[in-house]
Amino acid sequence: MSKTVVTLDLPPLKTQVEIAIGEGLLKSDLAKICRSRSGQIAIIADSNIASTYGKLVEEMTGGCMLPLTGGEEAKTRESKQKFEDELLRRKFGRDTLLIGLGGGVVTDFTAFLASTYMRGVPHILVPTTLLAMVDAAIGGKCGVDTPFGKNLIGAIYHPSHILIDPALLASLPDPEWTHGLAEILKYGLIADPSIWELLERDPLHWKKSLLSLLLSSIRVKKNVVEQDPLETIGLRRILNFGHTIAHALEALSQFKMPHGEAVAIGCIAESCLSHRLGFLSKEDFSRIKTLFRKFSFSFKLPKAFALEPMIDAMLIDKKAKAREPRFVLIDRIGHALPFDGSYCRTVPAAELKALIQEELCLNT
Ligand SMILES: NC(=O)c1ccc[n+]([C@@H]2O[C@H](COP(=O)([O-])OP(=O)(O)OC[C@H]3O[C@@H](n4cnc5c(N)ncnc54)[C@H](O)[C@@H]3O)[C@@H](O)[C@H]2O)c1
Ligand SMILES: [Zn+2]
Repeated sequence: MSKTVVTLDLPPLKTQVEIAIGEGLLKSDLAKICRSRSGQIAIIADSNIASTYGKLVEEMTGGCMLPLTGGEEAKTRESKQKFEDELLRRKFGRDTLLIGLGGGVVTDFTAFLASTYMRGVPHILVPTTLLAMVDAAIGGKCGVDTPFGKNLIGAIYHPSHILIDPALLASLPDPEWTHGLAEILKYGLIADPSIWELLERDPLHWKKSLLSLLLSSIRVKKNVVEQDPLETIGLRRILNFGHTIAHALEALSQFKMPHGEAVAIGCIAESCLSHRLGFLSKEDFSRIKTLFRKFSFSFKLPKAFALEPMIDAMLIDKKAKAREPRFVLIDRIGHALPFDGSYCRTVPAAELKALIQEELCLNT
C-alpha cells in the first residue's frame, strides 16, 4: 500500500496537522492512532454511511457512533446542541476524541463541535466525499448554518489528523464526484497548471489519476492555508475563485443548486471576466471552456436568474467592499492575480452586466 503524508505546519497556531493520503489507510492507520491515546471516542458519522464505514470505524476504534441525519439541513446550532447534550449525558470528558466521518457537512460539524466541547477537544477527520477530501476537511474552517446564511457561526479549529482514503469513495454517487471535480478544476486554475494538463490529457478517464489529483489539490490548499492560516493576509481568497458568482447562484436558487455546479459556472464566468478585462488570453479562456464542457458542466442559467438580483446576491460575498462585489481573477491557467496582496478586485458594473447577459445568457 502506498501512502503519502503531507504535514500542515501552522506556527502562528502552534498546530500541526497530519494529512495521510492512501488507498486502504483507514483500516491501517485509524486504529493505530486511537490505540496510541487513552480516553473516550465518539464517532460522528453521516447517517448514509453509518451502517457501512461507520460500523467499521466503530469496530476498529471501540468508539461510540452518533449518526448525523439530514445532511446540510442538520448542520445547525440546534443539532450541535443535541450532540453536546448527548455527549454530556454519556459523560464524555475532556479526554474525548471526536472522529468526523462523512462529507463536508460532517467534517464542518464535527470540527465545530470539537472546538467548543469542554472548551476544545481533539478530533480526527475522515472525509468520505471527494469535495471534503480536497477542500472541506482541510484548513480548519468549520461551523454551522443559520436561517440568515450558510456557515455564519463557526471557528477555525484544526484536527490532529486527516485520513484520506480514496477507497471510501467507492460508494459515492456520480453527482458527488462531479462536485469534487469542480473544486479540483478550480485548484488547477488558481495555482497548479499540472492539474489542468492532467485532466485535459484524458478527461473521460480522469478517475484513473485520482490519487495524483488528490495530492496536487491538497498541496494547493495546504500551501495557501499555511501562508494565511487565519485568513488575514488575503491569499486565502484565491480559494474563492469562481465563488463570488457561485455563492450568488446558490443563494438565488434557495440553495437548491448544488455547490459544485455553481462553482463550475462561477469558474467559467470568472475566467471570462479575467479574459474580458484583458488579463487572461483568448487561448487559455478557450481551453477552460472546452474542458468544463467535456465534463458536461452547464454554462447557461435558467431565466429565473435576473440581472439585478444576481448582482445584489454577489454583495453577500465576504470579499464585497463598499457595496461592490470583488472577484479573484487569473492571468493564466494556474495563476491567480495578487493585486497588491488583496488577491481580488472590483469589476466595472458594465463589464459585470455584459458578462451576465452575454456569457451566462440571462434574461434571454
Ligand atoms: N470548511 C470548509 O473549508 C469547507 C469547504 C467547502 C465546503 N464546505 C462544506 O461542505 C459541505 C458540502 O460537503 P459535501 O459536498 O461533501 O456534501 P455532504 O457532506 O452533504 O455529502 C454529500 C452526500 O454524499 C453522501 N456521502 C458522503 N460520503 C459518502 C460515501 N462515501 N458514499 C456514499 N455517499 C456518501 C452524504 O450522505 C450526502 O448525501 C457544505 O456544508 C459546505 O459548507 C466546507
Ligand atoms: Zn467551494
